[in-house]
Amino acid sequence: MAKAFQSSAILLCVVLVLLISGSEQLQSSQGETLLRIQRLLNYPSALSSWNSTTDFCNTEPNASVTVVCYENSITQLHIIGNKGTPLLPRNFSIDSFVTTLVGLPNLKVLTLVSLGLWGPLPGKIARLSSLEILNVSSNFLYDAVPQEISSLAALQSLVLDDNMFADEVPNWIGSLPVLSVLSLKKNMLNGSLPDSLGNLDNLRVLVLSHNYFRGEVPDLSSLTNLQVLDLEDNALGPQFPLLGNKLISLVLSKNKFRDGLPAEVTSYYQLQRLDLSSNKFVGPFPQSLLSLPSVTYLNVADNKFTGMLFENQSCSADLEFVDLSSNLMTGQLPNCLLQDSKRKVLYAANCLATGDGDQHPISLCLNEALAVGILPQRQKRKASKETIAFGVIGGIVGGIAFVGLIYLAVRKVKSRKAIKRPNTRLIAESASTGYPSNLLPDARYISQTMKLGALGLPPYRTFSLEEVEEATNNFDTSAFMGEGSQGQVMQIRCNIFFVFHSVELSCDTLILSSEHELF
Ligand SMILES: *[C@@H]1O[C@H](CO)[C@@H](O)[C@H](O)[C@H]1NC(C)=O
Ligand SMILES: *[C@@H]1O[C@H](CO)[C@@H](O)[C@H](O)[C@H]1NC(C)=O
Ligand SMILES: *[C@@H]1O[C@H](CO)[C@@H](O)[C@H](O)[C@H]1NC(C)=O
Ligand SMILES: *[C@@H]1O[C@H](CO)[C@@H](O)[C@H](O)[C@H]1NC(C)=O
Ligand SMILES: *[C@@H]1O[C@H](CO)[C@@H](O)[C@H](O)[C@H]1NC(C)=O
Ligand SMILES: *[C@@H]1O[C@H](CO)[C@@H](O)[C@H](O)[C@H]1NC(C)=O
Repeated sequence: MAKAFQSSAILLCVVLVLLISGSEQLQSSQGETLLRIQRLLNYPSALSSWNSTTDFCNTEPNASVTVVCYENSITQLHIIGNKGTPLLPRNFSIDSFVTTLVGLPNLKVLTLVSLGLWGPLPGKIARLSSLEILNVSSNFLYDAVPQEISSLAALQSLVLDDNMFADEVPNWIGSLPVLSVLSLKKNMLNGSLPDSLGNLDNLRVLVLSHNYFRGEVPDLSSLTNLQVLDLEDNALGPQFPLLGNKLISLVLSKNKFRDGLPAEVTSYYQLQRLDLSSNKFVGPFPQSLLSLPSVTYLNVADNKFTGMLFENQSCSADLEFVDLSSNLMTGQLPNCLLQDSKRKVLYAANCLATGDGDQHPISLCLNEALAVGILPQRQKRKASKETIAFGVIGGIVGGIAFVGLIYLAVRKVKSRKAIKRPNTRLIAESASTGYPSNLLPDARYISQTMKLGALGLPPYRTFSLEEVEEATNNFDTSAFMGEGSQGQVMQIRCNIFFVFHSVELSCDTLILSSEHELF
Protein backbone atom coordinates (compact mmCIF):
# COMPACT_ATOMS: atom_id res chain seq x y z
CA MET A 1 0.00 0.00 0.00
CA ALA A 2 2.69 2.47 1.12
CA LYS A 3 4.80 1.25 -1.72
CA ALA A 4 2.03 1.88 -4.26
CA PHE A 5 1.54 5.36 -2.84
CA GLN A 6 5.26 6.06 -3.03
CA SER A 7 5.52 4.99 -6.64
CA SER A 8 2.47 6.98 -7.68
CA ALA A 9 3.93 10.02 -5.93
CA ILE A 10 7.15 9.57 -7.88
CA LEU A 11 5.17 9.19 -11.07
CA LEU A 12 3.29 12.41 -10.30
CA CYS A 13 6.57 14.23 -9.72
CA VAL A 14 7.98 12.99 -12.99
CA VAL A 15 4.84 14.02 -14.85
CA LEU A 16 4.95 17.47 -13.20
CA VAL A 17 8.60 17.96 -14.11
CA LEU A 18 7.92 16.88 -17.66
CA LEU A 19 4.94 19.21 -17.86
CA ILE A 20 6.90 22.17 -16.51
CA SER A 21 9.87 21.65 -18.77
CA GLY A 22 7.58 20.94 -21.69
CA SER A 23 5.40 24.00 -21.44
CA GLU A 24 7.70 26.65 -20.06
CA GLN A 25 11.18 26.07 -21.23
CA LEU A 26 12.67 27.80 -24.19
CA GLN A 27 15.13 25.84 -26.24
CA SER A 28 18.41 26.84 -24.67
CA SER A 29 19.92 27.72 -28.03
CA GLN A 30 17.27 30.41 -28.49
CA GLY A 31 18.03 31.87 -25.06
CA GLU A 32 21.68 32.02 -26.04
CA THR A 33 20.70 33.72 -29.27
CA LEU A 34 18.90 36.43 -27.30
CA LEU A 35 21.95 36.99 -25.10
CA ARG A 36 24.10 37.21 -28.20
CA ILE A 37 21.67 39.77 -29.64
CA GLN A 38 21.98 41.75 -26.42
CA ARG A 39 25.77 41.75 -26.80
CA LEU A 40 25.73 42.62 -30.51
CA LEU A 41 23.42 45.54 -29.74
CA ASN A 42 26.02 46.72 -27.25
CA TYR A 43 23.84 46.10 -24.17
CA PRO A 44 21.08 48.64 -24.74
CA SER A 45 19.33 49.88 -21.62
CA ALA A 46 16.09 48.27 -22.80
CA LEU A 47 17.72 44.85 -22.34
CA SER A 48 19.51 45.68 -19.10
CA SER A 49 17.73 42.97 -17.13
CA TRP A 50 18.60 40.12 -19.48
CA ASN A 51 21.16 37.63 -18.18
CA SER A 52 21.86 33.94 -18.37
CA THR A 53 19.22 33.13 -15.76
CA THR A 54 16.40 35.12 -17.43
CA ASP A 55 13.28 33.13 -18.26
CA PHE A 56 12.65 34.92 -21.56
CA CYS A 57 9.27 33.40 -22.30
CA ASN A 58 7.86 34.49 -18.98
CA THR A 59 9.03 38.05 -18.53
CA GLU A 60 6.45 40.79 -18.47
CA PRO A 61 6.34 42.59 -21.80
CA ASN A 62 6.73 46.35 -21.68
CA ALA A 63 6.91 49.23 -24.15
CA SER A 64 10.52 48.52 -25.05
CA VAL A 65 10.85 44.74 -24.92
CA THR A 66 8.48 41.92 -25.74
CA VAL A 67 9.35 38.26 -26.24
CA VAL A 68 6.57 35.87 -27.18
CA CYS A 69 7.07 32.10 -27.26
CA TYR A 70 5.04 29.28 -28.68
CA GLU A 71 5.97 25.63 -28.20
CA ASN A 72 9.49 26.32 -26.87
CA SER A 73 10.29 28.70 -29.63
CA ILE A 74 10.34 32.48 -29.94
CA THR A 75 7.72 33.76 -32.36
CA GLN A 76 7.82 37.47 -31.59
CA LEU A 77 10.69 39.73 -30.67
CA HIS A 78 10.25 43.46 -30.16
CA ILE A 79 13.15 45.60 -29.04
CA ILE A 80 12.61 49.35 -29.11
CA GLY A 81 15.49 51.58 -28.12
CA ASN A 82 15.39 55.19 -27.07
CA LYS A 83 14.34 57.67 -29.71
CA GLY A 84 17.41 59.10 -31.40
CA THR A 85 19.73 56.26 -30.45
CA PRO A 86 23.06 56.94 -32.21
CA LEU A 87 24.88 54.47 -34.41
CA LEU A 88 26.17 51.32 -32.82
CA PRO A 89 29.97 51.28 -32.57
CA ARG A 90 32.21 50.66 -35.53
CA ASN A 91 32.78 47.03 -34.65
CA PHE A 92 29.04 46.37 -35.06
CA SER A 93 28.38 44.04 -37.98
CA ILE A 94 24.86 43.97 -39.40
CA ASP A 95 25.84 40.73 -41.09
CA SER A 96 26.72 38.95 -37.83
CA PHE A 97 23.64 40.46 -36.25
CA VAL A 98 21.28 39.06 -38.87
CA THR A 99 23.14 35.73 -38.87
CA THR A 100 22.40 35.60 -35.15
CA LEU A 101 18.75 36.56 -35.64
CA VAL A 102 18.13 33.67 -38.00
CA GLY A 103 18.87 31.48 -34.99
CA LEU A 104 15.25 32.25 -34.07
CA PRO A 105 13.79 30.42 -37.07
CA ASN A 106 10.14 30.61 -36.01
CA LEU A 107 9.95 34.38 -35.69
CA LYS A 108 6.74 35.77 -37.11
CA VAL A 109 7.01 39.30 -35.76
CA LEU A 110 10.28 41.19 -35.58
CA THR A 111 10.46 44.81 -34.43
CA LEU A 112 13.90 46.37 -34.08
CA VAL A 113 13.38 50.11 -33.73
CA SER A 114 15.78 52.90 -32.73
CA LEU A 115 18.68 50.60 -31.97
CA GLY A 116 21.40 52.31 -34.02
CA LEU A 117 21.60 49.40 -36.49
CA TRP A 118 23.69 50.40 -39.49
CA GLY A 119 24.78 48.83 -42.73
CA PRO A 120 23.05 47.28 -45.73
CA LEU A 121 20.21 45.00 -44.67
CA PRO A 122 21.53 41.48 -45.42
CA GLY A 123 19.34 39.38 -47.70
CA LYS A 124 19.65 36.44 -45.33
CA ILE A 125 17.01 38.06 -43.15
CA ALA A 126 14.71 36.17 -45.53
CA ARG A 127 15.82 32.91 -43.87
CA LEU A 128 13.24 33.90 -41.26
CA SER A 129 10.74 32.37 -43.61
CA SER A 130 7.73 32.66 -41.27
CA LEU A 131 8.04 36.43 -40.91
CA GLU A 132 4.71 38.21 -41.04
CA ILE A 133 5.70 41.61 -39.66
CA LEU A 134 9.10 43.22 -40.08
CA ASN A 135 9.60 46.69 -38.60
CA VAL A 136 13.14 48.07 -38.55
CA SER A 137 12.27 51.76 -38.36
CA SER A 138 14.56 54.53 -37.15
CA ASN A 139 17.92 52.93 -37.75
CA PHE A 140 20.68 53.68 -40.23
CA LEU A 141 20.17 50.92 -42.76
CA TYR A 142 21.25 51.83 -46.26
CA ASP A 143 21.58 50.63 -49.86
CA ALA A 144 18.83 48.84 -51.72
CA VAL A 145 16.05 46.80 -50.12
CA PRO A 146 17.36 43.23 -50.56
CA GLN A 147 15.61 41.13 -53.19
CA GLU A 148 15.57 38.08 -50.90
CA ILE A 149 12.66 39.69 -49.05
CA SER A 150 10.53 38.77 -52.06
CA SER A 151 10.64 35.15 -50.87
CA LEU A 152 8.84 35.96 -47.60
CA ALA A 153 5.48 34.62 -48.68
CA ALA A 154 3.79 35.27 -45.33
CA LEU A 155 4.93 38.88 -45.03
CA GLN A 156 2.03 41.18 -44.18
CA SER A 157 3.83 44.29 -42.97
CA LEU A 158 7.09 45.63 -44.27
CA VAL A 159 8.08 48.77 -42.37
CA LEU A 160 11.45 50.31 -43.17
CA ASP A 161 10.66 53.91 -42.14
CA ASP A 162 13.27 56.45 -41.23
CA ASN A 163 16.41 54.76 -42.50
CA MET A 164 18.69 55.51 -45.43
CA PHE A 165 17.47 52.94 -47.94
CA ALA A 166 18.34 54.04 -51.46
CA ASP A 167 17.64 53.14 -55.06
CA GLU A 168 14.21 52.37 -56.45
CA VAL A 169 11.28 50.46 -55.01
CA PRO A 170 11.89 47.07 -56.62
CA ASN A 171 9.32 45.64 -58.97
CA TRP A 172 9.25 42.36 -57.01
CA ILE A 173 7.45 44.15 -54.20
CA GLY A 174 4.23 43.50 -56.12
CA SER A 175 4.73 39.75 -55.80
CA LEU A 176 4.43 39.60 -52.01
CA PRO A 177 1.13 37.76 -51.90
CA VAL A 178 -0.38 38.95 -48.62
CA LEU A 179 1.31 42.29 -48.05
CA SER A 180 -1.09 44.68 -46.41
CA VAL A 181 1.18 47.38 -44.97
CA LEU A 182 4.08 48.83 -46.91
CA SER A 183 5.72 51.78 -45.19
CA LEU A 184 8.94 53.23 -46.53
CA LYS A 185 8.74 56.84 -45.40
CA LYS A 186 11.81 58.96 -44.71
CA ASN A 187 14.36 57.13 -46.78
CA MET A 188 16.35 58.08 -49.86
CA LEU A 189 14.43 56.00 -52.36
CA ASN A 190 14.12 57.43 -55.85
CA GLY A 191 12.99 56.68 -59.39
CA SER A 192 9.43 56.02 -60.42
CA LEU A 193 7.05 53.77 -58.51
CA PRO A 194 6.72 50.25 -59.96
CA ASP A 195 3.44 49.36 -61.66
CA SER A 196 3.44 46.13 -59.68
CA LEU A 197 2.21 48.08 -56.62
CA GLY A 198 -1.16 47.85 -58.32
CA ASN A 199 -1.10 44.03 -57.89
CA LEU A 200 -1.01 44.07 -54.10
CA ASP A 201 -4.65 43.13 -53.62
CA ASN A 202 -4.39 43.03 -49.84
CA LEU A 203 -2.70 46.38 -49.44
CA ARG A 204 -4.37 48.58 -46.85
CA VAL A 205 -1.60 51.04 -46.04
CA LEU A 206 0.90 52.48 -48.49
CA VAL A 207 3.23 55.12 -47.06
CA LEU A 208 5.99 56.40 -49.31
CA SER A 209 6.34 59.95 -47.99
CA HIS A 210 9.61 61.87 -47.71
CA ASN A 211 11.60 60.15 -50.42
CA TYR A 212 12.70 61.22 -53.89
CA PHE A 213 10.11 59.48 -56.04
CA ARG A 214 9.12 61.08 -59.32
CA GLY A 215 6.78 60.48 -62.24
CA GLU A 216 3.19 59.31 -62.37
CA VAL A 217 1.69 57.18 -59.62
CA PRO A 218 0.88 53.73 -61.02
CA ASP A 219 -2.75 52.71 -61.38
CA LEU A 220 -3.93 51.72 -57.88
CA SER A 221 -7.61 51.55 -58.71
CA SER A 222 -7.72 47.77 -58.30
CA LEU A 223 -6.49 48.00 -54.69
CA THR A 224 -9.96 47.78 -53.25
CA ASN A 225 -8.69 47.52 -49.69
CA LEU A 226 -6.44 50.56 -49.76
CA GLN A 227 -7.30 52.87 -46.88
CA VAL A 228 -4.18 54.94 -46.32
CA LEU A 229 -2.10 56.45 -49.09
CA ASP A 230 0.62 58.88 -48.08
CA LEU A 231 2.90 60.21 -50.81
CA GLU A 232 3.89 63.48 -49.13
CA ASP A 233 7.08 65.25 -50.10
CA ASN A 234 8.20 63.55 -53.29
CA ALA A 235 8.16 64.79 -56.88
CA LEU A 236 5.20 62.76 -58.13
CA GLY A 237 2.67 63.90 -60.71
CA PRO A 238 1.28 65.63 -62.66
CA GLN A 239 -1.82 63.41 -62.89
CA PHE A 240 -4.07 62.74 -59.94
CA PRO A 241 -3.60 59.03 -59.06
CA LEU A 242 -6.17 56.41 -60.00
CA LEU A 243 -7.52 55.08 -56.71
CA GLY A 244 -10.30 53.00 -55.25
CA ASN A 245 -12.98 54.79 -53.24
CA LYS A 246 -12.44 53.18 -49.83
CA LEU A 247 -9.72 55.61 -48.83
CA ILE A 248 -9.71 56.96 -45.30
CA SER A 249 -6.59 59.07 -45.57
CA LEU A 250 -5.13 60.51 -48.75
CA VAL A 251 -2.04 62.70 -48.51
CA LEU A 252 -0.51 64.02 -51.71
CA SER A 253 1.01 67.24 -50.36
CA LYS A 254 4.36 68.62 -51.53
CA ASN A 255 4.47 66.93 -54.89
CA LYS A 256 4.04 68.00 -58.49
CA PHE A 257 0.41 67.13 -59.05
CA ARG A 258 -0.95 69.65 -61.51
CA ASP A 259 -4.08 68.61 -63.32
CA GLY A 260 -7.58 69.10 -62.03
CA LEU A 261 -9.24 66.82 -59.49
CA PRO A 262 -11.28 64.00 -60.98
CA ALA A 263 -14.95 63.92 -60.05
CA GLU A 264 -14.47 60.58 -58.21
CA VAL A 265 -12.82 62.38 -55.31
CA THR A 266 -16.22 63.53 -54.17
CA SER A 267 -17.30 59.88 -53.97
CA TYR A 268 -14.71 58.90 -51.32
CA TYR A 269 -17.39 58.35 -48.73
CA GLN A 270 -14.98 57.08 -46.04
CA LEU A 271 -12.40 59.80 -46.50
CA GLN A 272 -11.42 61.49 -43.25
CA ARG A 273 -8.18 63.17 -44.18
CA LEU A 274 -7.46 64.83 -47.52
CA ASP A 275 -4.24 66.80 -47.92
CA LEU A 276 -3.52 68.15 -51.39
CA SER A 277 -1.50 71.15 -50.21
CA SER A 278 1.58 72.54 -51.94
CA ASN A 279 1.04 71.12 -55.38
CA LYS A 280 0.08 72.84 -58.60
CA PHE A 281 -3.52 71.71 -58.88
CA VAL A 282 -5.61 73.80 -61.22
CA GLY A 283 -9.30 73.87 -62.00
CA PRO A 284 -12.35 74.34 -59.84
CA PHE A 285 -12.24 73.41 -56.17
CA PRO A 286 -15.07 70.90 -55.67
CA GLN A 287 -16.96 72.55 -52.82
CA SER A 288 -18.72 69.32 -52.04
CA LEU A 289 -15.45 68.07 -50.48
CA LEU A 290 -16.51 70.13 -47.46
CA SER A 291 -19.56 67.96 -47.06
CA LEU A 292 -18.00 64.51 -47.63
CA PRO A 293 -19.71 62.39 -44.97
CA SER A 294 -16.57 61.44 -43.01
CA VAL A 295 -14.18 64.28 -43.65
CA THR A 296 -12.41 65.84 -40.65
CA TYR A 297 -9.26 67.31 -42.22
CA LEU A 298 -9.20 69.08 -45.57
CA ASN A 299 -6.11 70.92 -46.76
CA VAL A 300 -5.87 72.28 -50.31
CA ALA A 301 -3.60 75.24 -49.50
CA ASP A 302 -1.01 76.52 -51.90
CA ASN A 303 -2.40 75.38 -55.23
CA LYS A 304 -4.19 77.14 -58.04
CA PHE A 305 -7.71 76.02 -57.35
CA THR A 306 -10.29 78.36 -58.82
CA GLY A 307 -14.02 78.71 -58.62
CA MET A 308 -16.62 80.53 -56.62
CA LEU A 309 -17.57 79.54 -53.07
CA PHE A 310 -21.12 79.97 -51.84
CA GLU A 311 -22.33 80.96 -48.37
CA ASN A 312 -24.97 78.26 -48.48
CA GLN A 313 -22.49 75.35 -48.97
CA SER A 314 -22.91 72.77 -46.21
CA CYS A 315 -20.09 71.17 -44.22
CA SER A 316 -19.59 67.76 -42.69
CA ALA A 317 -20.38 67.81 -38.98
CA ASP A 318 -17.00 66.27 -38.15
CA LEU A 319 -14.92 68.80 -40.04
CA GLU A 320 -12.17 70.03 -37.71
CA PHE A 321 -9.60 71.61 -39.99
CA VAL A 322 -9.93 73.35 -43.36
CA ASP A 323 -7.13 75.17 -45.14
CA LEU A 324 -8.03 76.88 -48.42
CA SER A 325 -5.17 79.43 -48.29
CA SER A 326 -3.19 80.59 -51.29
CA ASN A 327 -5.50 79.60 -54.10
CA LEU A 328 -7.54 81.55 -56.63
CA MET A 329 -11.00 81.15 -55.13
CA THR A 330 -13.64 83.83 -55.30
CA GLY A 331 -17.10 84.32 -53.83
CA GLN A 332 -18.18 84.00 -50.20
CA LEU A 333 -16.76 81.81 -47.48
CA PRO A 334 -19.40 79.19 -46.63
CA ASN A 335 -21.23 80.11 -43.45
CA CYS A 336 -20.87 76.62 -42.07
CA LEU A 337 -17.09 77.11 -41.86
CA LEU A 338 -17.46 80.06 -39.54
CA GLN A 339 -20.18 78.74 -37.27
CA ASP A 340 -18.23 76.28 -35.16
CA SER A 341 -15.45 77.89 -33.16
CA LYS A 342 -13.72 74.54 -32.54
CA ARG A 343 -13.16 74.30 -36.25
CA LYS A 344 -9.86 75.70 -37.52
CA VAL A 345 -10.41 77.42 -40.86
CA LEU A 346 -7.69 79.13 -42.90
CA TYR A 347 -8.42 80.93 -46.17
CA ALA A 348 -5.88 83.78 -46.58
CA ALA A 349 -4.49 84.78 -49.97
CA ASN A 350 -7.52 84.02 -52.12
CA CYS A 351 -9.89 86.57 -53.63
CA LEU A 352 -12.83 85.92 -51.33
CA ALA A 353 -15.28 88.66 -50.44
CA THR A 354 -14.58 88.43 -46.72
CA GLY A 355 -13.65 92.04 -46.13
CA ASP A 356 -10.36 90.89 -44.53
CA GLY A 357 -7.13 92.52 -45.61
CA ASP A 358 -5.51 89.19 -46.40
CA GLN A 359 -7.45 88.63 -49.64
CA HIS A 360 -6.23 89.61 -53.10
CA PRO A 361 -8.27 91.82 -55.42
CA ILE A 362 -10.62 89.69 -57.44
CA SER A 363 -8.94 90.72 -60.70
CA LEU A 364 -5.81 88.88 -59.66
CA CYS A 365 -7.59 85.57 -59.24
CA LEU A 366 -9.54 86.00 -62.45
CA ASN A 367 -6.42 86.85 -64.44
CA GLU A 368 -4.45 83.99 -63.00
CA ALA A 369 -7.35 81.64 -63.51
CA LEU A 370 -7.38 82.66 -67.13
CA ALA A 371 -3.66 82.12 -67.35
CA VAL A 372 -3.75 78.59 -65.92
CA GLY A 373 -7.05 77.56 -67.37
CA ILE A 374 -7.55 78.93 -70.83
CA LEU A 375 -4.26 79.69 -72.50
CA PRO A 376 -3.27 76.95 -74.92
CA GLN A 377 -1.16 74.15 -73.52
CA ARG A 378 2.03 75.12 -75.30
CA GLN A 379 2.09 78.63 -73.96
CA LYS A 380 1.30 77.37 -70.54
CA ARG A 381 4.26 75.03 -70.63
CA LYS A 382 6.55 77.79 -71.74
CA ALA A 383 5.40 79.98 -68.93
CA SER A 384 5.98 77.30 -66.37
CA LYS A 385 9.40 76.55 -67.80
CA GLU A 386 10.28 80.17 -67.36
CA THR A 387 9.07 80.05 -63.83
CA ILE A 388 11.20 76.99 -63.20
CA ALA A 389 14.22 78.71 -64.71
CA PHE A 390 13.54 81.65 -62.48
CA GLY A 391 13.33 79.36 -59.50
CA VAL A 392 16.54 77.63 -60.46
CA ILE A 393 18.39 80.88 -60.87
CA GLY A 394 16.93 82.17 -57.64
CA GLY A 395 17.99 78.96 -55.94
CA ILE A 396 21.49 79.15 -57.28
CA VAL A 397 21.90 82.79 -56.40
CA GLY A 398 20.47 82.19 -52.96
CA GLY A 399 22.67 79.15 -52.56
CA ILE A 400 25.80 81.00 -53.59
CA ALA A 401 25.03 83.86 -51.26
CA PHE A 402 24.39 81.51 -48.38
CA VAL A 403 27.44 79.38 -49.03
CA GLY A 404 29.48 82.55 -49.37
CA LEU A 405 28.28 83.76 -46.01
CA ILE A 406 29.19 80.48 -44.40
CA TYR A 407 32.56 80.47 -46.05
CA LEU A 408 33.28 83.93 -44.69
CA ALA A 409 32.10 82.90 -41.27
CA VAL A 410 34.27 79.79 -41.37
CA ARG A 411 37.28 81.80 -42.41
CA LYS A 412 36.66 84.19 -39.61
CA VAL A 413 36.47 81.41 -37.09
CA LYS A 414 39.56 79.78 -38.50
CA SER A 415 41.58 82.93 -38.15
CA ARG A 416 40.34 83.25 -34.59
CA LYS A 417 41.29 79.66 -33.99
CA ALA A 418 44.89 80.32 -34.92
CA ILE A 419 45.08 82.31 -31.73
CA LYS A 420 42.85 80.34 -29.42
CA ARG A 421 41.69 76.78 -30.02
CA PRO A 422 38.10 76.44 -28.81
CA ASN A 423 37.52 73.59 -26.43
CA THR A 424 34.80 71.89 -28.43
CA ARG A 425 35.72 68.28 -28.93
CA LEU A 426 32.32 66.96 -29.55
CA ILE A 427 32.61 64.41 -32.23
CA ALA A 428 36.09 64.59 -33.61
CA GLU A 429 36.74 61.01 -32.58
CA SER A 430 33.64 59.47 -34.14
CA ALA A 431 33.61 61.56 -37.29
CA SER A 432 37.01 60.25 -38.28
CA THR A 433 37.46 57.00 -40.17
CA GLY A 434 35.98 53.62 -39.45
CA TYR A 435 32.37 53.92 -40.56
CA PRO A 436 31.62 53.29 -44.20
CA SER A 437 31.39 56.46 -46.20
CA ASN A 438 27.64 55.99 -46.76
CA LEU A 439 27.20 57.01 -43.18
CA LEU A 440 29.34 60.10 -43.08
CA PRO A 441 26.91 62.06 -45.19
CA ASP A 442 24.12 61.38 -42.78
CA ALA A 443 23.41 64.50 -40.87
CA ARG A 444 21.31 62.69 -38.35
CA TYR A 445 24.39 60.83 -37.31
CA ILE A 446 26.28 64.04 -36.85
CA SER A 447 23.58 65.75 -34.94
CA GLN A 448 23.05 62.64 -32.84
CA THR A 449 26.67 62.60 -31.94
CA MET A 450 26.53 66.25 -31.16
CA LYS A 451 23.67 65.58 -28.88
CA LEU A 452 25.79 63.01 -27.12
CA GLY A 453 28.35 65.66 -26.41
CA ALA A 454 25.71 68.01 -25.15
CA LEU A 455 23.60 65.77 -22.97
CA GLY A 456 20.45 67.28 -21.67
CA LEU A 457 19.97 69.77 -24.44
CA PRO A 458 16.97 69.59 -26.73
CA PRO A 459 17.61 67.91 -30.09
CA TYR A 460 17.29 71.02 -32.20
CA ARG A 461 19.35 73.50 -30.32
CA THR A 462 21.48 76.01 -32.19
CA PHE A 463 25.00 74.79 -32.73
CA SER A 464 27.99 77.04 -32.65
CA LEU A 465 30.04 77.32 -35.78
CA GLU A 466 32.88 75.52 -34.06
CA GLU A 467 30.65 72.55 -33.39
CA VAL A 468 29.44 72.41 -36.95
CA GLU A 469 32.99 72.69 -38.10
CA GLU A 470 34.01 69.79 -35.96
CA ALA A 471 31.03 67.80 -37.13
CA THR A 472 31.82 68.35 -40.76
CA ASN A 473 35.57 68.10 -40.45
CA ASN A 474 36.06 71.78 -41.24
CA PHE A 475 33.42 71.69 -43.95
CA ASP A 476 35.56 69.19 -45.76
CA THR A 477 33.68 68.17 -48.87
CA SER A 478 34.83 64.58 -48.52
CA ALA A 479 32.94 64.44 -45.26
CA PHE A 480 29.84 65.52 -47.12
CA MET A 481 30.00 63.47 -50.22
CA GLY A 482 31.13 59.93 -49.48
CA GLU A 483 30.12 57.40 -52.06
CA GLY A 484 26.47 57.74 -51.37
CA SER A 485 23.87 58.65 -53.92
CA GLN A 486 23.01 62.17 -54.86
CA GLY A 487 20.12 61.78 -52.46
CA GLN A 488 22.37 61.38 -49.49
CA VAL A 489 24.37 64.37 -50.49
CA MET A 490 21.25 66.47 -50.66
CA GLN A 491 20.06 65.14 -47.40
CA ILE A 492 23.06 66.17 -45.43
CA ARG A 493 23.06 69.64 -46.84
CA CYS A 494 19.49 70.20 -45.96
CA ASN A 495 19.96 68.89 -42.49
CA ILE A 496 23.26 70.48 -41.78
CA PHE A 497 21.84 73.84 -42.54
CA PHE A 498 18.78 73.00 -40.62
CA VAL A 499 20.86 72.11 -37.62
CA PHE A 500 23.29 74.92 -38.12
CA HIS A 501 20.74 77.59 -38.63
CA SER A 502 18.07 76.08 -36.44
CA VAL A 503 15.44 77.57 -38.70
CA GLU A 504 13.64 75.66 -41.34
CA LEU A 505 15.45 76.53 -44.52
CA SER A 506 14.05 75.66 -47.89
CA CYS A 507 15.56 72.37 -48.88
CA ASP A 508 14.81 73.19 -52.51
CA THR A 509 17.44 75.85 -52.50
CA LEU A 510 19.92 73.48 -51.03
CA ILE A 511 19.07 70.66 -53.36
CA LEU A 512 19.68 73.01 -56.24
CA SER A 513 22.94 74.13 -54.76
CA SER A 514 24.09 70.54 -54.42
CA GLU A 515 23.07 69.71 -57.96
CA HIS A 516 25.12 72.61 -59.11
CA GLU A 517 28.09 71.54 -57.05
CA LEU A 518 28.52 74.78 -55.20
CA PHE A 519 30.67 73.18 -52.61
C1 LIG B 1 33.00 46.52 -29.71
O1 LIG B 1 34.03 47.22 -29.04
C2 LIG B 1 33.74 47.53 -27.70
C3 LIG B 1 34.91 48.29 -27.13
O2 LIG B 1 35.22 49.35 -27.96
C4 LIG B 1 33.52 46.26 -26.90
O3 LIG B 1 33.16 46.59 -25.57
C5 LIG B 1 32.39 45.49 -27.53
O4 LIG B 1 32.24 44.25 -26.89
C6 LIG B 1 32.69 45.23 -29.01
N1 LIG B 1 31.49 44.66 -29.57
C7 LIG B 1 31.53 43.63 -30.37
C8 LIG B 1 30.23 43.17 -30.89
O5 LIG B 1 32.57 43.06 -30.66
C1 LIG C 1 11.34 46.17 -20.09
O1 LIG C 1 11.70 44.82 -19.99
C2 LIG C 1 13.09 44.58 -20.18
C3 LIG C 1 13.35 43.08 -20.14
O2 LIG C 1 12.22 42.33 -20.18
C4 LIG C 1 13.90 45.28 -19.12
O3 LIG C 1 15.27 45.06 -19.33
C5 LIG C 1 13.60 46.75 -19.19
O4 LIG C 1 14.29 47.41 -18.14
C6 LIG C 1 12.11 47.00 -19.08
N1 LIG C 1 11.89 48.42 -19.34
C7 LIG C 1 11.08 49.15 -18.58
C8 LIG C 1 10.93 50.58 -18.98
O5 LIG C 1 10.50 48.69 -17.64
C1 LIG D 1 20.02 38.18 -13.49
O1 LIG D 1 19.04 39.21 -13.38
C2 LIG D 1 18.21 39.10 -12.25
C3 LIG D 1 17.18 40.19 -12.27
O2 LIG D 1 17.17 40.89 -13.44
C4 LIG D 1 19.05 39.18 -10.99
O3 LIG D 1 18.22 39.02 -9.88
C5 LIG D 1 20.10 38.10 -11.03
O4 LIG D 1 20.95 38.24 -9.91
C6 LIG D 1 20.92 38.18 -12.28
N1 LIG D 1 21.79 37.03 -12.34
C7 LIG D 1 23.06 37.09 -12.69
C8 LIG D 1 23.83 35.81 -12.77
O5 LIG D 1 23.61 38.15 -12.94
C1 LIG E 1 7.14 50.26 -36.03
O1 LIG E 1 7.44 50.07 -34.67
C2 LIG E 1 7.40 51.23 -33.86
C3 LIG E 1 7.80 50.84 -32.46
O2 LIG E 1 6.95 49.87 -31.95
C4 LIG E 1 6.00 51.81 -33.87
O3 LIG E 1 5.97 53.00 -33.12
C5 LIG E 1 5.62 52.10 -35.30
O4 LIG E 1 4.28 52.58 -35.33
C6 LIG E 1 5.74 50.85 -36.14
N1 LIG E 1 5.44 51.23 -37.52
C7 LIG E 1 4.39 50.75 -38.19
C8 LIG E 1 4.15 51.31 -39.54
O5 LIG E 1 3.69 49.87 -37.73
C1 LIG F 1 -26.65 78.40 -53.04
O1 LIG F 1 -26.73 79.73 -53.50
C2 LIG F 1 -26.56 79.87 -54.92
C3 LIG F 1 -26.60 81.33 -55.29
O2 LIG F 1 -26.44 82.16 -54.20
C4 LIG F 1 -27.64 79.11 -55.66
O3 LIG F 1 -27.43 79.21 -57.05
C5 LIG F 1 -27.59 77.65 -55.23
O4 LIG F 1 -28.64 76.95 -55.81
C6 LIG F 1 -27.67 77.54 -53.72
N1 LIG F 1 -27.46 76.15 -53.36
C7 LIG F 1 -28.18 75.53 -52.48
C8 LIG F 1 -27.82 74.10 -52.21
O5 LIG F 1 -29.09 76.07 -51.91
C1 LIG G 1 18.60 56.55 -57.58
O1 LIG G 1 19.59 56.40 -56.60
C2 LIG G 1 20.63 55.53 -56.98
C3 LIG G 1 21.52 55.30 -55.79
O2 LIG G 1 21.27 56.10 -54.75
C4 LIG G 1 21.36 56.13 -58.16
O3 LIG G 1 22.42 55.30 -58.55
C5 LIG G 1 20.39 56.30 -59.30
O4 LIG G 1 21.01 56.94 -60.37
C6 LIG G 1 19.18 57.12 -58.86
N1 LIG G 1 18.19 57.05 -59.91
C7 LIG G 1 17.51 58.11 -60.33
C8 LIG G 1 16.49 57.86 -61.38
O5 LIG G 1 17.70 59.22 -59.87
